[in-house]
Amino acid sequence: MEAAIDLKSQYAHAMLPKVASDEASRQEFVKSLKLHLASKVAPGNRLAYQVRAEKRYAAATGKTPGNYHEIRKAMADEPYFCFWSALQRNSQEMMWKAAQLPVERSLDTLIDVSKGTSQVGGTLTLNPDIEIPRYHRMVDIHCMPGGYHTDFVEDDVANGAVYDRAVYLYAMGRMGPFNSDIGDTTIAFLKEKFPDLAPKRILDMGCTVGHSTLPYCDAFPEAEIYAIDVGAPVLRYAHARAESLGKKVHFSQQNAEATTFEDGSFDLIVTHILVHETSHKAMRNIMREAYRLLSPGGVIIHAETPPYRALEAFDAFMLDWDTRNNNEPYWGASHEIVPADIARETGFDPAKAFEGVQTSVFDAAEAERTKVFQGGDFGGAGAWYVWGAQK
Ligand SMILES: C[S@@+](CC[C@H](N)C(=O)[O-])C[C@H]1O[C@@H](n2cnc3c(N)ncnc32)[C@H](O)[C@@H]1O
Repeated sequence: MEAAIDLKSQYAHAMLPKVASDEASRQEFVKSLKLHLASKVAPGNRLAYQVRAEKRYAAATGKTPGNYHEIRKAMADEPYFCFWSALQRNSQEMMWKAAQLPVERSLDTLIDVSKGTSQVGGTLTLNPDIEIPRYHRMVDIHCMPGGYHTDFVEDDVANGAVYDRAVYLYAMGRMGPFNSDIGDTTIAFLKEKFPDLAPKRILDMGCTVGHSTLPYCDAFPEAEIYAIDVGAPVLRYAHARAESLGKKVHFSQQNAEATTFEDGSFDLIVTHILVHETSHKAMRNIMREAYRLLSPGGVIIHAETPPYRALEAFDAFMLDWDTRNNNEPYWGASHEIVPADIARETGFDPAKAFEGVQTSVFDAAEAERTKVFQGGDFGGAGAWYVWGAQK
């Protein structure tokens, strides 16, 4: 009988770096600090706004802030906000460092393991000539040193390994032992909204290490699963991780704006927290490319944190923190997207655009109980926003 999976820890698959006890303590500290900031410190911002910043803004301008931009201006000099914001930024930098240390120490072993784990017939196709998009070259997204694409050594997997562990710390474990909650939750939405969808070929764009890709192997066992990303180190890691977990996926290094797949190749195209990390132009290119790649009746779906229009202005202000403080230049604008407008601009029928909020599959009850809302990729409060269009 297989041992039950421990839902309170990250699953120790073959590619997950082993951590020494001091490294584990450091990582646990970062996870606890993030939880403390999200649950105990961040909520004080609302009080500081209500008792001080809002009144200061009204005294200076003659009106109370009417939207999240004005709340940001009102809070810019508020000491409590500056205190929380500095801690939040520090926790982010500490998180990357804490995830990097064991990877640096064991990189040679990880690279060896990555070369020896082909077991279930998935494939990896890299393109050393790929041009990394400017929107990834110009900034280390969410302060991750080197981003998703930098190879520090030959056959590098370092930033795949760093990302895998850091996501677990970032989400405070609440994306489950496989960090798969966004994929699982998107699938739950798809099964409700499109009960007859039986895709033969599925493409995950911007897959990184495959956290959200692998759930499609189980949810649609008849389908062939493809996944693309621009970053080589994350793809090498993704391939080895998938093979070690017994999931067959065809990974390739491609830009989702213009892929090499033939017209009509896929019945389902999915992205998970990709949209907020691409430029406005690139996001539209990706939608146009998805239109080309979908078969008639096929579906493209994106999963993200909620659009600002669905939130109270103060919550939108808090969620928008990443735009200016966490190297996420496209974060804010991506939260202003209106699916029908994008569909119209990119070849889809706007009447076939859709959106929804889907309760997180993993531990939704716990999320609801604690109501942790930290902002950032992990939206908190146990739900993901999904949007897309049918061809
Ligand atoms: C936040 S990560 C996505 C995480 C992943 N989908 C998951 O759910 O675990 C964004 C990924 O998108 C990739 N990416 C960004 N722009 C891309 C593009 N134009 N084409 C392909 N991949 C892209 C980045 O390299 C990065 O790995």
